[in-house]
Amino acid sequence: MRLGVNIDHIASIRQIRRATAPEPVFAAFLCEAAGADSIVVHLREDRRHIKERDLYLLKQVVETKLNLEMSLASDIVDVACDVCPPQVTLVPERRQELTTEGGLDVVGNRKRIGRVIDKLKRHNIMVSLFIDPVKYQIDECLKLRVKMVELHTGRYAEARTDSNKRSRLSELARAASYAHQRGMVVNAGHGLDYYNVPAVVKIKCIEELNIGYSIVCRAALVGLEQAVREMKELIRSHSCL
Ligand code: PXP
Repeated sequence: MRLGVNIDHIASIRQIRRATAPEPVFAAFLCEAAGADSIVVHLREDRRHIKERDLYLLKQVVETKLNLEMSLASDIVDVACDVCPPQVTLVPERRQELTTEGGLDVVGNRKRIGRVIDKLKRHNIMVSLFIDPVKYQIDECLKLRVKMVELHTGRYAEARTDSNKRSRLSELARAASYAHQRGMVVNAGHGLDYYNVPAVVKIKCIEELNIGYSIVCRAALVGLEQAVREMKELIRSHSCL
């Protein structure tokens, strides 16, 4: 199972002082040196952490895969079509939220999402949709001929009781297998950390995990390369493959 490292919060630290450090490009370089399989950034509509400038630089230096998370906003779609990262992950976005709160409602926004997907595909960008792990959203993705989804692991990560964790985990496993059987590449992420990741790693048909906050938190104590290496090792050691 691959690891995509989301480096948004390296840019959040820079933003606290409206400064020039730490530099997300250097962070990307260290993550890749430590074994990250892709670099993930979210260009938010309010530009609260990652800026256009970061995106253009990252496009030039990332050697693994640059995965741009973004909303359906037309100005952001225009930036994506100009930068042309190899992959875009479409996510819902609300100005006031601290972080992405739920999956995209593909059922309720089918036409708009379809138009954005078509535009991105015309620029040879692979499109993934960030959705809740439920069958009806996967079915809607299939109707749009989406080839890749990222399942939202937030509800699993937030579960507090053992029984709730178990049921959220089986919801994830069912959704992953349903999408995988229908030919989709299945990724997952949100709220994953060094404690809750092993159970997700055991879900065989998930190909990539995208993890940000917990890695940057650990990096503040042990350094970014060490934090990425530890997560890679956890994923490797719990993987069934
Ligand atoms: N995947 C998606 C689609 C996200 O929006 C985020 C948060 O930016 C992540 C993964 C990473 O979540 P976290 O920072 O909680 O690890």
